[in-house]
Amino acid sequence: MSRVGLIERFFDDLPFEAGDPILTLGEGSTPLVHAPRLSERVGAEVHLKLEGMNPTGSFKDRGMCAAVSAAVKDGAKAVMCASTGNTAASAAAYATRGGLTGAVIVPSGKIATGKLAQSLMHGAKVIALDGNFDQALALTRELCERHPIALVNSVNPWRLEGQKTAAFELLEDLPTIDGLCIPVGNAGNVTAYWKGFQERGHDLYLYGFQAAGSAPLVEGKVVENPETVASAIRIGNPARWEEAVAAFRDSRGLVRAVTDDEILAAYRFLAGEEGVFCEPASAASVAGLLKYGPGDATTIACVLTGHGLKDPDNALRQSGSVLPCKPTIEAVEALVIGES
Ligand code: F0G
Repeated sequence: MSRVGLIERFFDDLPFEAGDPILTLGEGSTPLVHAPRLSERVGAEVHLKLEGMNPTGSFKDRGMCAAVSAAVKDGAKAVMCASTGNTAASAAAYATRGGLTGAVIVPSGKIATGKLAQSLMHGAKVIALDGNFDQALALTRELCERHPIALVNSVNPWRLEGQKTAAFELLEDLPTIDGLCIPVGNAGNVTAYWKGFQERGHDLYLYGFQAAGSAPLVEGKVVENPETVASAIRIGNPARWEEAVAAFRDSRGLVRAVTDDEILAAYRFLAGEEGVFCEPASAASVAGLLKYGPGDATTIACVLTGHGLKDPDNALRQSGSVLPCKPTIEAVEALVIGES
């Protein structure tokens, strides 16, 4: 049986109308997995929302199926976004699905290999900007004002509509949830989760985490030259700044910073101890929980926003090396059974 996409599943909660064109790649309905070792370490019941299990390997598919469906309905011929990689991969996939042209602008040399491969494979025009994400977004906004191109960054309200469904799924799987740990970059996702929880009348603590070198919301000012190993959240001027600040305030939550070392430690911990492989930006949610603790929350979900396979280069830098071996049983035995 084919998987029902999230627009169909949550049709009554979304501003689509009967007969609207609907694009789906089977997004949403991602696993929520208990994390026993993490729970023990932080002294709370912690679950991991595996958003890397979406069709293009990140949570972006939730918002993108909605935004590109709406673009098709509006008669758009092309969609465009600025991206640190995942939005680009998702936009490229759904644009293809909808028979539209896709163009993406990414900071040159600063997006993970898997995301670049995806965008190119799906046939998008990939523009490598000699600049950062914030500059790419400003240029994209300007271009979409000049030309009839649908902007599918999270400034597009359809993106938030699709992404809020993750909150609905969490409430179905974990009705007593009272804390959400989430990485924050352009701040669309945390805004969407809060919208989803509010629509269901459910309060909880929102704990957002930014990378220390790219933490404008924490510092309360734009970061001109954001830096972090977590390239997905290398953003200095989030588009959903005000909404995110309001969400943290209204939820009695907080937005705080985690260093690259803390992010990478959580990244290795999740892969090596929980068996869950996410990308570095996603691990910021767990790094923050490990660093600051659960506060008053007792039942927590950490949003693991993207799959570990997105970023093989960081993975190989953070893991052990392979064991070279001659093709004899003695050599294999020595390596498998031997001491070191
Ligand atoms: N985690 C991952 C893996 C991401 O790709 C992003 C954002 C975030 C977290 C932060 O989400 O921006 O809604 O606060 N990636 C965007 C992109 C910016 O272009 O792929 P946010």
